[in-house]
Amino acid sequence: MSITEFASLQHYNTLALEARARALAQVCQSADLAAACAWARREGLPLVPLGQGSNIVLAQDLDALVVLMATRGVDILSDGSDEVLLRVAAGENWHELVQWALVKGLYGLENLALIPGTVGAAPVQNIGAYGVELASMIEAVHAHVIDDDTRLVLSRDDCAFGYRDSVFKHGLRDRVVITAVDLRLSRRPRLQLDYPALAQGLRSARVVSPTPIDVFNAVIRLRRSRLPDPAVQPNAGSFFLNPLVSMEQAEALAARFPALPMYAQTDGGIKLAAGWLIDFCGWKGYRNNNLGIHPQHALVLVNYGNDSGRQLLQLAETVAQSVADTFGVQLVIEPRVYGE
Ligand code: EPU
Repeated sequence: MSITEFASLQHYNTLALEARARALAQVCQSADLAAACAWARREGLPLVPLGQGSNIVLAQDLDALVVLMATRGVDILSDGSDEVLLRVAAGENWHELVQWALVKGLYGLENLALIPGTVGAAPVQNIGAYGVELASMIEAVHAHVIDDDTRLVLSRDDCAFGYRDSVFKHGLRDRVVITAVDLRLSRRPRLQLDYPALAQGLRSARVVSPTPIDVFNAVIRLRRSRLPDPAVQPNAGSFFLNPLVSMEQAEALAARFPALPMYAQTDGGIKLAAGWLIDFCGWKGYRNNNLGIHPQHALVLVNYGNDSGRQLLQLAETVAQSVADTFGVQLVIEPRVYGE
């Protein structure tokens, strides 16, 4: 494993923000990870694991050893007539895994097609889209403890998954590197077609009895029609979480804004569409020099040039303030901000 000191991270974050890491290493096998942890301990530096940097904002240079997780491999742990258990290495590309599974006739991941990033990053924010969350297929998550090189195996319950949330954002934040994820997939199609935009997409494509491949294709069409490709227009997907509010607050808002989309949660709370709130405030398509809000989706901030993470965060704060002034709802940034 080689370590590059004072390395640019511009190619390692999908917002293409320029920031330098004090040191950068690529981990292709587990021995590299132990060596990287030892190096970071010796130098007294924190270790920051990265997949494809699709959910981070680099606010400034990082005085850390950044470790690019590039381990590959998919192992079939058990192969039953109904279900298959896979162990997927952290560095595998998420969308390639979704495609691979479909080709093998293993179902469950199709609603999560085209989400940027790696398998190892996916449990941190419990990636979710079009009515499916990764948590529902996770059997276990394997992690390496940065401080002492011990290994952890976390069950789905241990991971404390929630909406865009997990133990990796709380108790285990900055303490572990996810090395592999065990996924339980189905040999029988188990379609989740409740998400209105997905159902509509299938109807428009005149698909009457959808297969998992139809769902996969419909999700790809939906995402391509509304979300910018980070390789063309650098972005980190949804920049804010959809806010969760109480039933009382939701009722008061519904009386004032009858068109505001709301989603009832199992705990009695209500989730609001942050994109709609931002759109209502007139931000969609806003552009100020190199920074802007995507014209097709108000939740996505785009770095059109070489602007800094700090400027991007300033725009995010201005947007959040206007939503707070209009609706009395505080938006929370979704990607992990480093170097604030
Ligand atoms: N909306 C607007 N204007 C906009 C954007 C959205 O009015 O500019 C409205 C839509 O018309 C719809 C509602 O807001 O009624 C929700 O929009 P959408 O279906 O696009 O979903 P979302 O809640 O904005 C979430 C996830 C996405 C995921 C989609 C589909 C979060 C923070 N985002 O977006 O995840 O792809 O649902 O399931 O939960 C990501 O995390 O990076 C991401 C893209």
